[in-house]
Amino acid sequence: MTKTERPRTQWLGRWGFVLAATGSAVGLGNVWKFPYMTGEYGGGAFVLVYLACILSVGVPVMMTEIALGRRGRGSPIDAIRRMASEAGRSSAWSLLGWMAMLCGFMILCFYVVVAGWSFAYLWKMISGGLAGSSVDDMAAIFSANNANPWSLGAWSTVVAVATMVIVGKGVQSGIEKSVSWMMPGMVIMLIIMIGYGAFSGGFGDALHFLFAFNASSLSSEGMLAAMGHAFFTLSLASGAILTYGSYLPREASIGRTTLTVAVADTLVALMAGLAIFPVIFANGMEPGSGPGLIFMSLPLAFQAMPLGTLFGILFFVMLSMAALTSSISMVEATVSWLTDNKGLSRRVASWGTGIVLWVISTMAMLSFNVGAEWTLLGKHFFDWLDFLTSRLMMPLGGLGMALFAGFVLRSEMLREELGLSPMIHGLWLFMVRYVSPLGILLIFVDALGWLDIDFAAQWPWLALVLAVVTLIGELTRPGLKRAFCS
Ligand code: PFF
Repeated sequence: MTKTERPRTQWLGRWGFVLAATGSAVGLGNVWKFPYMTGEYGGGAFVLVYLACILSVGVPVMMTEIALGRRGRGSPIDAIRRMASEAGRSSAWSLLGWMAMLCGFMILCFYVVVAGWSFAYLWKMISGGLAGSSVDDMAAIFSANNANPWSLGAWSTVVAVATMVIVGKGVQSGIEKSVSWMMPGMVIMLIIMIGYGAFSGGFGDALHFLFAFNASSLSSEGMLAAMGHAFFTLSLASGAILTYGSYLPREASIGRTTLTVAVADTLVALMAGLAIFPVIFANGMEPGSGPGLIFMSLPLAFQAMPLGTLFGILFFVMLSMAALTSSISMVEATVSWLTDNKGLSRRVASWGTGIVLWVISTMAMLSFNVGAEWTLLGKHFFDWLDFLTSRLMMPLGGLGMALFAGFVLRSEMLREELGLSPMIHGLWLFMVRYVSPLGILLIFVDALGWLDIDFAAQWPWLALVLAVVTLIGELTRPGLKRAFCS
């Protein structure tokens, strides 16, 4: 029996949820991952697919998750089980919640390592360890940073402990407060960096790289990566948004809240791109140089600009904070489930989870040094955690949530919860029933090589497929007319 019937904590202020959800969404995904993936997958085409995925899959799935969380009043597992039973459907749907919770935790296990990089670079900025370094030195410093398991382990331990301390303190005092000053600070820092980049000589190239669409530069693998990243950056299908949604007061508008979070998240990612690529191009660096991209490029800019050390310190403080407000959201599902179902106090649940996190994240950290040879199918443990979550579990989880909301629940359940105008509700239903699932499936099929789809050239055919599937779906679904027309 669950103990979730007691009143659930709620966010303190009107902006509590928006702040916390934005804090979860904006993180290393925007500033570290988005630029390096854009670099690896060829620029503008990747950015376009990513934006299309945010709009067509990310936003509708995010609305769904918040609505499921608020109506189900619990961790993903409990919320989905409750909603399924309210609709008279099998409790096996709660497996979706299990997968989301596991996914959030798996992400955290590699995320703390990257957040540790950010802390390490903050320390390097403070101690002057980067002063006078050339482009080549920066690559060597990044490698040396990873080669030492003791310092790398110490920094990821700091992140793991900080995460658990904040989560242990609870939703209101821990999570909400830390976000309210970090987010504006991050944006100001990025604006300063863009301002610097605009005069660095690489700005034109950066704009071209980010926004010029060249369909041939995007592989099937890149399409899947862009879709996975849309989930990752909005913290979807990993329990975070759904659990935060369970603390959302009834009066808040889910549609407006979702748009605010998605727009803020996308802007920060694009701003990060505009801050980083001018430095890359001005210094003749390789945009596709992988996960070290921001750590090798930004310190160069800090060196060259006036007050660079100060800005560098501020930047890495902000990045580390942005990482923390995301990492706390990744364990919130697990901690909430443990406290609701196992009778543990928040503190005990947090520390218990923290110990498991520490062990697994240490294994991920070792991928960069002692365990560099321990690979499976060419990937080490760190890469597997990233690959399994972003390319597999999140898109599949998102597909599951969309179908659950679109076809499994009774339509009035989420209609009440979402409270949208009939037209917007119809649009949301169309997205979760057809556009998102079909989009996810097609990108999977393409990435697996079962069909070679050229999305740019074959879009009229794809639109036709969507129309036919929608028609068949609507005609065969009993009660569907009611759903759209009432
Ligand atoms: N959205 C975060 C980022 O972009 O850094 C990462 C993330 C947070 C993923 C929370 C998943 C999650 F549950």
